[in-house]
Amino acid sequence: MNIVWATSEAAPYAKTGGLADVSYSLPYAMAENGHNVSVIMPYYPQVMGELCEQTECVYELLGVPFGDGNEEWASIRQHKINDNLSFYFIEYDKFYDRPKLYDWGGSEYADNAERFIFLSRAVMQAVLALDIKVDVLHANDWHVALCNVYVKSDLYRSYSNFAETKSIMTIHNIGYQGVFNKSNLSFTGLTWDYFNFQCLEFFDQLNFLKAGVLTADMVTTVSPTYAEEILTPEYGFSLENALQHKAVKGKLRGIINGIDIHEWNPESDALLPHNYSHNDLSGKVLCKAELQKEFGLEVRPDVPVYGVVSRLATQKGLDVFIECIDEMLKNDDVQFVIVGSGESWQESALGNFARTYPGKCGVHIGYSNKLAHLVEAGSDFFVMPSRYEPCGLNQMYSMKYGTVPIVRSTGGLEDTVHNYSASNLEQATGFKFYDLYPAALRDTMRWAASIYRNDKPAFEKMIVNGMKTDFSWHLTAMEYEELYDHANKRY
Ligand code: ADP
Ligand code: GLC
Repeated sequence: MNIVWATSEAAPYAKTGGLADVSYSLPYAMAENGHNVSVIMPYYPQVMGELCEQTECVYELLGVPFGDGNEEWASIRQHKINDNLSFYFIEYDKFYDRPKLYDWGGSEYADNAERFIFLSRAVMQAVLALDIKVDVLHANDWHVALCNVYVKSDLYRSYSNFAETKSIMTIHNIGYQGVFNKSNLSFTGLTWDYFNFQCLEFFDQLNFLKAGVLTADMVTTVSPTYAEEILTPEYGFSLENALQHKAVKGKLRGIINGIDIHEWNPESDALLPHNYSHNDLSGKVLCKAELQKEFGLEVRPDVPVYGVVSRLATQKGLDVFIECIDEMLKNDDVQFVIVGSGESWQESALGNFARTYPGKCGVHIGYSNKLAHLVEAGSDFFVMPSRYEPCGLNQMYSMKYGTVPIVRSTGGLEDTVHNYSASNLEQATGFKFYDLYPAALRDTMRWAASIYRNDKPAFEKMIVNGMKTDFSWHLTAMEYEELYDHANKRY
């Protein structure tokens, strides 16, 4: 199949979260299975740095209709990974040459509607320019959701490139929908006919994700549990009705993400000071000591270390973590290591803990892939108290690294972590709690520490269970293939 994967970010080129990880590793797995995959995303020169040099311009004057009768000129750059997989970058500095992808100084860029209308339109134009006969157009999250509208619109449906195209909308996070003033419709090239409740209209505004969902041939999200949760008002962020409409027609599926086992493998990870495997965990003990040193903590093998690597956003539930750890730092013999950035009040609250409890709490505010790997390897526990979690990758990274996850039972966390109980030791890989209250999280962290201290064989069994679990893309890629076939046959 010829698959076009549209996204606003992909690692290592540009990343704010798991969407980027998935946008590299799933296309890679699909290409390994023999499909032709073209990933199309913006060219972010400021963000990509040295990686820019690995790309070459393959199409200089890409005309992108934008606004009333206007045409803007972009170019297409390519990074060819192998014969089946290329990353194509839309170069248009006015919109993408920015220090960060979506925001600056705590505010979203004021022209985000224009930036991502442009991206969606440029994806369609790039397909024509590169002359790809698209079997599957796979749009990821709101930034490119309009592609699904375009492909069925008068603007594109008569092109032979799209004659056989089936469109897929994957929701990685329904909390971000791309809701903008309706005046932005003029940039899309679409008529006001599209501003209706079955497409772009949403409380008298434009909603790109809603339009992508309602026009796609199939909608997916990144775990089975999240696919059920988003049908409810609690998790649906007002799109539950639109999604129910798809679900009753059998057009909504939850497919769990995999992880890139080349990047996230403790046996070969070059970012770690020591490597290890489930047969010999001595390297993990050394990584723990390095982590403690790095964060100025007391270097002691016997104390439980809880790690966090996260965006500091409401979604992640770290407000509750912040509420509950003071008491533990005061009273318990434990250590915390946190790497994250986001909401400024959370950044300063975490910074205060590091100042108040030096030796017990280490915090790095900012983004650091190297530290993320060290935290995954050197911690005993990895904490994810998410309010909602479409899939979550970090809990899988941590299990692979022999670090036991402590998670709220929601979305992909529910689907990937097996809760510990004495009778479930053969399967157990982590600890779960259900209600998002400080006491529930604290009790679970203390419960985990008590197993760590008092039942070493059980704790070690959980480590090995997690490390042996197959989180590779292999199975997931097959599920997507089946979905693509299904979309092809059915409509
Ligand atoms: P989300 O996409 O909602 O943020 P995921 O668990 O799917 O959650 O993916 C998060 C990804 O971003 C992981 O690869 C994680 O290691 C990375 N990450 C998040 N915050 C940081 C940070 N401050 N430094 C380094 N990596 C981070
Ligand atoms: C989103 C979700 C996260 C998921 C990632 C990749 O950012 O918040 O749970 O793992 O997308 O699908």
